[in-house]
Amino acid sequence: MKSLTEKFKSEAIREIPASGLSGSVSWQSPSNIALVKYWGKREIQLPMNPSVSLTLQEAHTTTKTAFSISKIRREPVLDYRFEGEPNNAFQARILKYLNSIEEFMPFLRNIELVIESSNSFPHSSGIASSASAFSALALCLADMENKLRGTESYGSEFFNKASFLARLGSGSAARSVYPGAVLWGETDALADSSDEVATGLYDSMDEVFKSFRNVILIVDPRKKTVSSSAGHDLMNANPFAEQRFDQARRHTREIIHILKSGDLHAFSELVEYEALCLHAMMLSSRPGYFLFAPQTLSVLNRIRSFRSETGIPVAFTLDAGANVHFLFPDENQDEVFHFIDTSLKEFCADGKYLSDRVGRGPQKL
Ligand code: DP6
Repeated sequence: MKSLTEKFKSEAIREIPASGLSGSVSWQSPSNIALVKYWGKREIQLPMNPSVSLTLQEAHTTTKTAFSISKIRREPVLDYRFEGEPNNAFQARILKYLNSIEEFMPFLRNIELVIESSNSFPHSSGIASSASAFSALALCLADMENKLRGTESYGSEFFNKASFLARLGSGSAARSVYPGAVLWGETDALADSSDEVATGLYDSMDEVFKSFRNVILIVDPRKKTVSSSAGHDLMNANPFAEQRFDQARRHTREIIHILKSGDLHAFSELVEYEALCLHAMMLSSRPGYFLFAPQTLSVLNRIRSFRSETGIPVAFTLDAGANVHFLFPDENQDEVFHFIDTSLKEFCADGKYLSDRVGRGPQKL
């Protein structure tokens, strides 16, 4: 069978209309939090193991693009603004990205592009924005391609292409183009799963997870000391890497089953274990490093005590950073918010946390 990479290469539009094409497209796309983590990759942006995430609702990136496509062939011409200001670091990363996907979108060699992007979450919240940023941009690019083809189709093909393009910008971004629970990577638990694109699991989720809450406890708002890219790289020499990839493959099968069954006890057990195993990979990299802070551990301990004292099925997970993602059923929100305000807030920087929930996916603006 042809890989998607081959398929998208062979289907790429190579003809530009004589009169060119200009217009604008805008998308809002959410961040996501992984339950089973992607940690370790191979060329090109392919994961060493499958991962499963929940798409968020409130934490999102809005990307507005104005484009002009002409017959003139050259490097993409880009004017990028983040929150109204030019940003050289982002501009350079996006130009590199646009050049890297040219074989799938040859029209990027004929384009002048003005991109305005902004996040719904504060800049200094320590939330990784690459998933929302690259998924929003990929959706805009797939939409421009729609315009070049003269179609207005936003079916499964459209999101499949957007997920593929988003992955090439940032792996976890592949998952942000779908609502609810999302799988990225090949697993024998799901036919048609792929390392090249994500697959939405929303229709097979138990109702309890569709309205699940996620509070992001901002323990440390600063940029992390080791980037995700460097962390992925260090997995190449991690002595436990192969066991970890096998474990994540097993955890993927388990979480898909749990998300279907609505078993909240199994959910918290597995999701917390996954978060700890992700950080164990950081501890056992060479050089070893740790991204959690003392307050992170205090929060984790309190969450576990709260669960055992109240029987409320809360769970924590961690990204590659010090902040804690606190997951719980919507029906327990009153007790849990009281607990956050009285027992967890003190560990957050300036008492800050962000209240989010499982989301409905990206939106065309
Ligand atoms: C710990 O998607 O940020 O959040 O592909 O290099 O952009 P790149 O990495 P990225 O890695 C995310 C790592 C993680 C786990 C996850 O989201 O699955």
